[in-house]
Amino acid sequence: MSPSKSAVRVWTWALLFLVIFSTTITNMAMSEVGFREAAKKKYMSEKVRKMFYHAYDNYMTHAFPHDELKPLTKTFTDSLSELGNLKLEHLPQHYNGSALTLIESLSSLVVLGNYTEFERAVWWLSDNLTFDVDARISLFECNIRVLGGLVSAHILATDSTSRFIQGTYKNQLLNLAEDLGQRFLWAFDTPTGLPYAWINLKYGVMENETTETSTSGCGSLILEMGALSRLTGDSKYEAVALRALRKLWSMRSSLDLLGTTLDVVKGEWIEYSSGIGAGVDSFYEYLIKAHILFGREEFWDMFHSAYLAVQKYFRHGPWYHEADMRTGKATYWQLTSLQAFWPGLQILVGDIAAANSSHREFFHVWERFGVLPERYLLDREMLHPTEKYYPLRPELAESTLYLYQATKDPWYMEVGESIVNSLNTYTKVEGGFASVKDVTTMQLEDHQHSFFLAETCKYLYLLFDDSFLAGKNYIFTTEGHPLPVRNSWHERLPEAYTPTNWSYVKSENQAKRASAMSLQVCPDTLTGGRNDGYWVESACHVRDARADHMCQTDEECGIDSTTCRKRTCSMAGYCGLWLFIA
Ligand SMILES: *[C@@H]1O[C@H](CO)[C@@H](O)[C@H](O)[C@H]1NC(C)=O
Ligand SMILES: *[C@@H]1O[C@H](CO)[C@@H](O)[C@H](O)[C@H]1NC(C)=O
Ligand SMILES: *[C@@H]1O[C@H](CO)[C@@H](O)[C@H](O)[C@H]1NC(C)=O
Ligand SMILES: *[C@@H]1O[C@H](CO)[C@@H](O)[C@H](O)[C@H]1NC(C)=O
Ligand SMILES: *[C@@H]1O[C@H](CO)[C@@H](O)[C@H](O)[C@H]1NC(C)=O
Ligand SMILES: *[C@@H]1O[C@H](CO)[C@@H](O)[C@H](O)[C@H]1NC(C)=O
Repeated sequence: MSPSKSAVRVWTWALLFLVIFSTTITNMAMSEVGFREAAKKKYMSEKVRKMFYHAYDNYMTHAFPHDELKPLTKTFTDSLSELGNLKLEHLPQHYNGSALTLIESLSSLVVLGNYTEFERAVWWLSDNLTFDVDARISLFECNIRVLGGLVSAHILATDSTSRFIQGTYKNQLLNLAEDLGQRFLWAFDTPTGLPYAWINLKYGVMENETTETSTSGCGSLILEMGALSRLTGDSKYEAVALRALRKLWSMRSSLDLLGTTLDVVKGEWIEYSSGIGAGVDSFYEYLIKAHILFGREEFWDMFHSAYLAVQKYFRHGPWYHEADMRTGKATYWQLTSLQAFWPGLQILVGDIAAANSSHREFFHVWERFGVLPERYLLDREMLHPTEKYYPLRPELAESTLYLYQATKDPWYMEVGESIVNSLNTYTKVEGGFASVKDVTTMQLEDHQHSFFLAETCKYLYLLFDDSFLAGKNYIFTTEGHPLPVRNSWHERLPEAYTPTNWSYVKSENQAKRASAMSLQVCPDTLTGGRNDGYWVESACHVRDARADHMCQTDEECGIDSTTCRKRTCSMAGYCGLWLFIA
């Protein structure tokens, strides 16, 4: 053996040793990180679990079977008839509540794995809940909270993999949901098919009832009514919701924009300005979620046009302002707390970069005030003079969950931790969790909204413990109630469709790029024709006229996918965003 050969061998061994050694060290470090992350998740999910039970047990002690808890005075409010009723008109005389917070808690109890309490609640509702009450309620609110809560709980109760006692349950929740759905039908009896915003649960539409409603009021019924039809085999619920949605969509402007309020009898717009927040938000949400749940191409077509119009006319960097549906001109430059759901929706379409940047801005506002103020004037950089409250809303936590699931970036868990800490610091009182009346003083209000249990606690819990989602593919209604994606409800999923992990990702790279939803259900056009899932094209992207990006005029250039700005033709003859070249 020549000296040089043995030297090579020594070096080879040394190198090999180094590689093995460093890999071991890296693995040890990795498992150390993994261990700390797992411990953190366990600690945080316990913390959120405690929050839920603090809210729930106080409700059960001081308010049940009334609708919601007043945590400061430890009493109750029969608020179902007050939801959306800003001027508190036509309040009922003899209404003792519908156990609203219990209905809203059903799916959260399952997410937390408390089947005993879930069962107890189901039996109580089966025996005692009635909708034959003389109360005027908001169709929208009652649909997302009560119908959605019942339908979702029925599905969870009959899920063959859950530990709910089989055989003894005789579809009581579904029967209640159907009874409610029947009452909803009264609202749709209009010349346009657009539903009234208000009905009396016992007597139907009241004499001289207002004909004004909102875009979300007509456009976010399809998930709950559709699910009710699929479960009962009676198509009429889905049919009326679909008819209303189609009518609403037919009222869009030539820019594919909608207004915020409209008249259900005349079929005309009342408020032409709209954005992605209050009065409109869940309309967009339900188009994409209806497509994911039912697979119908029509929903995708509506969503895609509507989404492009939002990115084109409302978006300003990471912010969204309002615009006039007729001209596309900006009207109000305001951030509203409800808009914080938008990044979550963008995850469903795979538009992760845009979701990430908006979410970060919302979180900065949260950090600045401690919670998210209801309305902030972007142009004047100040809080809205009267809407300074934070009613325990879930939207930021919701988006944080979606972003974490899509990217697995641990930073989002830090966001969640910060949200949990704020809620415990500012809103927890002995009798539950109280809404913040004024974010500048952190003065509290005597109200614990049912969505705190249905959504805020649920999304935060799922951020740290997503075992509920394993092996399932759920979409969440706008009130946080899970509905499973099933091939029997879906037009395009194969017979043998079995859901994978909700957050299932094939590789690290892909994890940063695509959401589970966009991989599983959304049309392939989203991935720009590539099916390796590595590169998901933004929905605001419009291609340049030429593949080599050469141009003679601005018209030949498309729209940039991350900034959503129109590209311009540079002096060198290339499409770009660099104004100084052009
Ligand atoms: C509501 O509760 C009050 C007091 O318990 C009772 O007198 C009344 O009959 C109840 N009303 C209805 C409609 O159940
Ligand atoms: C379920 O909820 C009830 C009511 O809050 C509570 O007493 C019970 O300990 C919970 N069970 C579990 C397993 O968390
Ligand atoms: C129905 O409500 C009554 C009165 O609160 C209660 O005594 C009864 O146990 C309830 N039914 C069930 C099945 O929980
Ligand atoms: C409805 O409006 C008409 C005309 O304004 C009025 O005469 C009638 O009393 C109203 N009915 C109710 C129940 O308010
Ligand atoms: C989100 O934005 C931050 C800041 O710009 C960046 O560091 C991070 O990598 C982004 N994450 C994703 C998943 O795009
Ligand atoms: C979900 O995915 C993870 C890894 O991504 C895997 O460890 C786990 O077993 C999966 N669970 C199910 C139910 O498929």
